[in-house]
Amino acid sequence: MRLHHVRVLGPGGLSMPQTVEVNAEGAQDRDATGLVLSPGWMDLHAHLRDPGFPQKETLLSGATSAAIGGFTHVLAMANTDPVTDRRERLESLVARSDALPIRISFVGAVTVALEGQELTDAAALKAAGAVALSDDGRHAMTAVVLRRALEAGAQAGLPVLIHAQAEALGNGPDAEAAAVSDALDAMRTMSAARLHVQHVSTRRAVELIRAAKSQGLLVTAEVTPHHLTLTEQDAWAMGPQGNVNPPLRTPDDRDALRQALVDEVIDVIATDHAPHERAAKEAGANGFHGFETAVGVVLGLGLNGRAVYRACISRPREIVGQSLEDEWILIDPNEEWTVEASSFKSRGKNTPFQGRRLRGRVLMTICRGQVVTERVMQHA
Ligand code: DOR
Ligand code: ZN
Repeated sequence: MRLHHVRVLGPGGLSMPQTVEVNAEGAQDRDATGLVLSPGWMDLHAHLRDPGFPQKETLLSGATSAAIGGFTHVLAMANTDPVTDRRERLESLVARSDALPIRISFVGAVTVALEGQELTDAAALKAAGAVALSDDGRHAMTAVVLRRALEAGAQAGLPVLIHAQAEALGNGPDAEAAAVSDALDAMRTMSAARLHVQHVSTRRAVELIRAAKSQGLLVTAEVTPHHLTLTEQDAWAMGPQGNVNPPLRTPDDRDALRQALVDEVIDVIATDHAPHERAAKEAGANGFHGFETAVGVVLGLGLNGRAVYRACISRPREIVGQSLEDEWILIDPNEEWTVEASSFKSRGKNTPFQGRRLRGRVLMTICRGQVVTERVMQHA
């Protein structure tokens, strides 16, 4: 497919309009004036609920929703039923993922059943295809277990992704700071370990990570679109729809997260896509739909092209050792639209952005040289 007058997002930012040839079987050449061609985004943090919770999501519904949202590669967490804590479970997921419209990679659990006690077999999980280890959704590990987990990850050559929220301390800012500082302390005594902090939500955690990076520790971090844009006031107004872990925080925390992204203290924007069915959400379940609103919310942050490339395209892949392979999205950065959860492809309609106006939307997603989703082009 030949795109005319398209601006291309690259490591250095946005190019001038140009003609570009994209490998996309069967797609028509077109005038792409005003549009942006971007490598497909990678979401380093998603819950696809498969196996175990088909009322929330499946590999197929999740992959389809991700494609609509502009993600051509997604990392799926292990808090499924059963938990992805054994080699054969990982192998079966990897085998099923070949048939999906986008690329899905998987984490293996750090501890058996996410219980924070017994370590999984990191080498076996890696051999089965795991690209990282994470107990996300839980953080039942003591500092001692966390240290052993970082060692096991280092030995297997896998980064350890932590849901930084010491469970015993609840979900306040102290619980996040405690988990982050335990993990960073452990890292100080190790050479090969790689630590990635998931969904950082507080200024204190940002400052701990900033200091650790300046000391040369191999630590990376992510932030969600919702923690970058919403606060506890939004959560109060939403009732149970506003429940998420970590919770929405103060305006000061939100501002620190935005600054950390600009300063490259936070590496990645990851959605923590956590679909739930309506009844579960009304009963208090934590988590937000993330995929189909991410591009609009992220473009609304006003970051420059270089920062978007880094946070949504290059750093997520570098952290889990994945490369770009014929994955593209065509974005209309000026399209204004209203979030309407009932039209999501995901089974999870639990968005905190319901009814909001967003600017910027994905028109076409290309993965493995195939057009996997395409919306009617309004400007044509
Ligand atoms: O809000 C959340 N939902 N946070 C998590 O860490 C887990 C996730 C889920 O699995 O629903
Ligand atoms: Zn989490």
